[in-house]
Amino acid sequence: TIQACLFDLDGVIVDTAKYHYIAWKELANELGFDFTETDNERLKGVSRMASLDILLEIGGLTFDDEKKQQLATRKNDRYVEYITRMQADEVLPGAKDFLTELRAAGIQTALGSASKNAPTILERVGLTPYFDAIIDGNSTSKAKPDPEVFLKGAEALGVKPANCVVFEDAEAGVEAALAGGMKCVGIGSPLVLAKANLVVDGLHQMNVALLRKSFSQTT
Ligand code: G6P
Ligand code: MG
Repeated sequence: TIQACLFDLDGVIVDTAKYHYIAWKELANELGFDFTETDNERLKGVSRMASLDILLEIGGLTFDDEKKQQLATRKNDRYVEYITRMQADEVLPGAKDFLTELRAAGIQTALGSASKNAPTILERVGLTPYFDAIIDGNSTSKAKPDPEVFLKGAEALGVKPANCVVFEDAEAGVEAALAGGMKCVGIGSPLVLAKANLVVDGLHQMNVALLRKSFSQTT
């Protein structure tokens, strides 16, 4: 039986991908090159410094570590400006209802995000109380596709990986869930998330009955 659901944040619970994109694009433009939405797909689920490395690779630029820290800080300062203005209505459709339904069904919930800004975002949109555990970029050292973030979430809840379902919009996140021995529901394109056990457009398509039906074979 499914005892816990673990959620990625960006692109699953809230649409912060657009703020990450704007902030990275502004940095790229300052450095003299363009950064497209297609390029941005490569940054989803990827840590801040790894994202910067990809961005600089796209621009064909190399910098020393000190300069890279400065650039990452500049991007994050901008990103923080956007997220501190977020409102409760920026929670993606269906997310709050599904979290509420899980609670009522006695299924535990955890956040599993690479973002160091995750606690700020949850506070801004009023979702902090909906999670039994919060694992984020401040409490992990290995980035997805490493399963660390989800394994720590399962551990915090006291649930075996086999009894967990992860919700993810990034390919690296789907890989992390499966590598951790968990089930995975992809949020987004079935082409990009082909490895997931089930793919839906968003949490508005999820409910406990569908969850149980899809994963009833687990023990
Ligand atoms: C999530 C997002 C990534 C982001 C990463 C780190 O995984 O999908 O796009 O780079 O978090 O976020 P942070 O807020 O710590 O820079
Ligand atoms: Mg994501």
